[in-house]
Amino acid sequence: MTAKGELLYEGKAKKVFRTDDPDRYLVEFKDDATAFDGLKKGTIRRKGEINARLSALFFQMLSRRGIPTHFIEQTGPRQLLVRAVEIIPVEVVARNIVAGSLAKRLGLEEGTVLKRPVLEFYYKSDELHDPMINNYHIAALELATEAQIKEMETYAWKVNELLVEFLRPADLVLVDFKLEFGLHHGSILLADEISPDTCRFWDGTSGEKLDKDRFRRDLGGVEDAYEEVLRRVEKLIGENL
Ligand code: TMP
Repeated sequence: MTAKGELLYEGKAKKVFRTDDPDRYLVEFKDDATAFDGLKKGTIRRKGEINARLSALFFQMLSRRGIPTHFIEQTGPRQLLVRAVEIIPVEVVARNIVAGSLAKRLGLEEGTVLKRPVLEFYYKSDELHDPMINNYHIAALELATEAQIKEMETYAWKVNELLVEFLRPADLVLVDFKLEFGLHHGSILLADEISPDTCRFWDGTSGEKLDKDRFRRDLGGVEDAYEEVLRRVEKLIGENL
């Protein structure tokens, strides 16, 4: 048992605690949900448990395929033990299909398959509402070194490839997703979470949205969508993982 120490950070969806080992943190996933920079607030029943489980499964799958992650083990229904990282304040978004802010920004129709997948960076800053930035901004603001940017890009493309392939047999289409990376003793690890809060998943047959867009856009059936993603991903476990 790892004892929960001082609360280090509380975000919109998670709390991070120190442990008695300075190299390890505990991450606790909450049922709270926000959208549009916290303007819209709510809770999604069982979200904490579902996102903790899904993140654990995705991180395990990815680390077995060569992506270094912060994940160590799941220590409770909504709790993960992770390597202590300092989060790089850059969100990395990968997109395969047009949706959300890309549809708006470029006037493209949601659902259009991109001729080539796209990577975007956003500056993690609540006050500034996470503005989109590029490699030059990241270097100028010293948010990460050029080598670290390259590494994040390489991992993001690899994660995209691995997740798309992994989810295909579950008839889940990976539309887009957001990753965060952290530094642990100088090395970059994939961190944060991978869940329906941070990815867009569409049913491959019906096109139904199975992610946080159901909450953002008041589509109803939010809990059922999260449960459905978990059910399908758990079915993939075994030889696939
Ligand atoms: P966007 O289309 O709103 O820019 O979102 C792109 C992807 O990033 C989508 O899968 C949802 C995820 N995302 C987050 O994880 N956190 C956020 O705060 C936002 C805005 C998006």
